Amino acid sequence: MDDNIYNPEFVKRLFNRMSRSYERMNYITSFGFSIRWRKQFLSSFHSTKEKAEIIDLLAGMGETWKSVKHKLPNSNLTVLDFSEEMLKYAKRKSKEKFNDEILILQQDILQNQLTANHYDFVICAFGLKTFNREQLEIFAQEIKRILKVGGQFSFIEISKPSHKILKTLYGFYLGKIIPILGKLLLGDPKEYKMLWKYTDQFENAKNANDIFAKAGLKTEFVSYFYGCATGFYGQKTE
Ligand SMILES: C[S@@+](CC[C@H](N)C(=O)[O-])C[C@H]1O[C@@H](n2cnc3c(N)ncnc32)[C@H](O)[C@@H]1O
Repeated sequence: MDDNIYNPEFVKRLFNRMSRSYERMNYITSFGFSIRWRKQFLSSFHSTKEKAEIIDLLAGMGETWKSVKHKLPNSNLTVLDFSEEMLKYAKRKSKEKFNDEILILQQDILQNQLTANHYDFVICAFGLKTFNREQLEIFAQEIKRILKVGGQFSFIEISKPSHKILKTLYGFYLGKIIPILGKLLLGDPKEYKMLWKYTDQFENAKNANDIFAKAGLKTEFVSYFYGCATGFYGQKTE
């Protein structure tokens, strides 16, 4: 597999191009499952009315914010993404639906300027697959750096289910049907084919979970809907 697909500039251009169709396609790609998964992956966090600091990494156009605000209504929400086109939609959403109260940062998480030991919660939905192993190691170190001691994290990513038949069907759906839908509905077939390439390489969140454990974070692997999405959650204990 061409390692160039993990080049941050390549990834940024891909998401800049996909931004005009991303939200609608996201819904179609998972039959609406992505909405449920975005709620489920926050279920390890205790609901609190306190003013917690939460950061949504690789936030795209803010697909997780509704679930975050439901779970942590008084939290200060910061979001980070490096795609200026995705963030254009995020800024509009923050203005129209969230009182312009969300702090939006355009940065590369692998070279970020976030404050150390600052966040109570770190989340990231569907952003892990465009990292290779080395980048995941940097990512884990960065999460450890920015979390407060006792702070929690949760991540989720589209994955290849382990069941053979389901894996074949899901692979066919994501790799073949989705690009056709992308072309018919939105005119973006190549970009959506790329997403399957990343998922095919990523397989599931087990490796990332191990990398986080090696970085000294307490983690727990989770599987959603027979492994069609996987993730992990945990805590910085020291
Ligand atoms: C698949 S989208 C996920 C968006 C959103 N979190 C969601 O739930 O749908 C991945 C996002 O990660 C961003 N991204 C990828 N690599 C990044 C990096 N190194 N630094 C910052 N953002 C990055 C992309 O620009 C894109 O908006």
